[in-house]
Amino acid sequence: MSVQSQSELKNKRVGVLMGGLSAERDVSLRTGAAVARALRSLGYPVVEIDVGKDVAARLMAEKVDVAWLALHGRYGEDGCIQGLLESMFIPYTGSGVLASAMGMEKVYAKKIFSTHAIPTPPYKIFTDAPSARAEVDALPFPFPVVVKPSREGSSVGVHVCKTKEAYLAAVEDASQYAGFLLVEQFIKGREVQGAVLDDEALGVIEVVVAREFYDQEAKYKAGSGTQYLFPAPLPADQYARVNEVCLAAHKALGCKGATRSDVIATEKGDVFVLEVNTLPGMTEASLLPKIAAGRGIDFPTLCERILLGAALKA
Ligand SMILES: Nc1ncnc2c1ncn2[C@@H]1O[C@H](COP(=O)(O)OP(=O)(O)O)[C@@H](O)[C@H]1O
Ligand SMILES: [Mg+2]
Repeated sequence: MSVQSQSELKNKRVGVLMGGLSAERDVSLRTGAAVARALRSLGYPVVEIDVGKDVAARLMAEKVDVAWLALHGRYGEDGCIQGLLESMFIPYTGSGVLASAMGMEKVYAKKIFSTHAIPTPPYKIFTDAPSARAEVDALPFPFPVVVKPSREGSSVGVHVCKTKEAYLAAVEDASQYAGFLLVEQFIKGREVQGAVLDDEALGVIEVVVAREFYDQEAKYKAGSGTQYLFPAPLPADQYARVNEVCLAAHKALGCKGATRSDVIATEKGDVFVLEVNTLPGMTEASLLPKIAAGRGIDFPTLCERILLGAALKA
């Protein structure tokens, strides 16, 4: 379905879908509230929908014409809600069913990166904890390693392991989540994130963490000492390379709208893509809005640009 114009959309009911059933419900509610406020300030008729199991009935009852997805994590970012909206013929923002599902499942995303020559840390996949434990002495890369569940977000279940003991404990913890067990080589470097909007790289922000890595506390806890530097103070050629791999990763997965990718930039000048976030946080303090602001795109305009990309995509 074709992308709609600004004036067409101002006569439609825009449903901002937020909350949802995932572990990232609270962040999503904050994203949704910020987006709804911004779209209203531009004159769009907005209805806020807190997504539960009755979402299809709510969309019909509220006569939603277009959905602005402010959801994160399972059911919101993984293709599920996208599939429902496709089936109801309601155009929606962001990536389609397949791209969303691949973005959420790190194992598939990494396979796609590899076929497109997009650098990603060396890895090994295990289907269960016993097989991961059995290979503790046979990993194809040296310690430290990172153990993570393949389908979570917000650093849930992610462990950096320097020793075999730490690895075995991490495998135990990560295996309680859905998906595969993903073990990656730990890449030492600077943590940066690149944003893409409508197939254009917007820029790169550096996340300076006061902790061992960008864990849940560093992401969400006030006072954890995390700092954000925009533009990321990388050498110019490495900055350009991060933009390039973020755009390549966005396109390789077939993403639409806005994405934010996590990248490690090494001292030597290499860059490694960890993942593509297909529905990045959009509170006014989130990183995508910070990067967009650096490019002269204010928050309401960013929300509107994303809305203008609403379409059926399957
Ligand atoms: N291979 C790796 N090398 C170095 N740090 C990593 C690696 N994988 C993950 N991390 C650290 O863990 C964080 C979360 O990992 P990520 O793969 O982005 O999962 P999530 O979906 O939970 O954000 C990253 O932001 C980074 O700080
Ligand atoms: Mg991440």
